[in-house]
Amino acid sequence: MQNVTFNNGVQMPILGYGTFQTPPAITAENVTNAINLGYRSIDTAQVYGTEPGVGEAIANSDLNREQFFVTTKTQTDGYAATKQGLDESLTRLGSDYYDLVLIHWPTAHRLETYRALEDAYQAGKVRAIGLSNFNPNQIDDLLANSHVKPVIDQVETHLFWQQTKLRPYLAAQGIVHEAWAPLGENFGREMMNLPAVKALAEKHHVTSAQVLLRWLTQQGIVTIPKSTNVKHVAANLASLDFSLTPDEIASLRQFDRGHSIKDWPQSMREDRY
Ligand SMILES: NC(=O)c1ccc[n+]([C@@H]2O[C@H](COP(=O)([O-])OP(=O)(O)OC[C@H]3O[C@@H](n4cnc5c(N)ncnc54)[C@H](OP(=O)(O)O)[C@@H]3O)[C@@H](O)[C@H]2O)c1
Repeated sequence: MQNVTFNNGVQMPILGYGTFQTPPAITAENVTNAINLGYRSIDTAQVYGTEPGVGEAIANSDLNREQFFVTTKTQTDGYAATKQGLDESLTRLGSDYYDLVLIHWPTAHRLETYRALEDAYQAGKVRAIGLSNFNPNQIDDLLANSHVKPVIDQVETHLFWQQTKLRPYLAAQGIVHEAWAPLGENFGREMMNLPAVKALAEKHHVTSAQVLLRWLTQQGIVTIPKSTNVKHVAANLASLDFSLTPDEIASLRQFDRGHSIKDWPQSMREDRY
């Protein structure tokens, strides 16, 4: 598994398993399937209700906690609620640490929320802290008012929204770019049926979904596709087993629409920063 290295030295697998919209009752079973297929990085969030299922799958595996990379995201705002929320997340996971905790979206009191993440980091409850759905202006403000640099920004990124405006900013800051909705959620079929994507899939003897994922990971973008279909879960991980050429990667840039598929959050619109 290829890793990225954060600005604090911690490493994260470039491809993991997402759990958004996975029903909590079947999360443990799905994550167990993913672990058995070779996934080690799992993305959960307080708001998904999947933290207990992730913890159960890890506890039932033959592997040690240290062999996993688990991300969660806050749904609280402000210092006290976030401090308490993080402790509750640890209890739900059944672990004394997370590998990565993100502020899920830029809430009103995000500087105070981040201070709770910093304290959890200093206390050893999380190995790295970061952001999700933050635009450069919001990150600049946070950098000016915090002590621990965020390691990552998890934002909507796929063929139809390539984040060409955000990427150079993150690179200059030494903040890793992570993609949510790498297969475009409900727009996946449209992306996968594009003749240019299908042609690359045929050439490399892979699926369109594998082309879309490899196109991200070869650009150094961490991603966490979600699937409850075991064949898809296996195929998504196997996307790391082939390579697109630099020209092929460049050939897909033309499909960027420069905007979100769901327009959430609106502060991420490219004309807002
Ligand atoms: N930070 C945030 O605000 C935020 C927001 C959204 C998501 N996320 C995270 O990012 C993860 C991924 O995003 P997402 O779940 O929204 O969308 P996604 O991974 O882009 O798309 C999931 C959809 O793609 C289908 N799919 C997956 N693999 C496939 C394959 N190989 N071939 C064909 N179809 C395939 C799935 O259906 P099947 O189940 O039928 O395969 C599902 O309908 C989430 O699970 C979550 O962990 C974060």
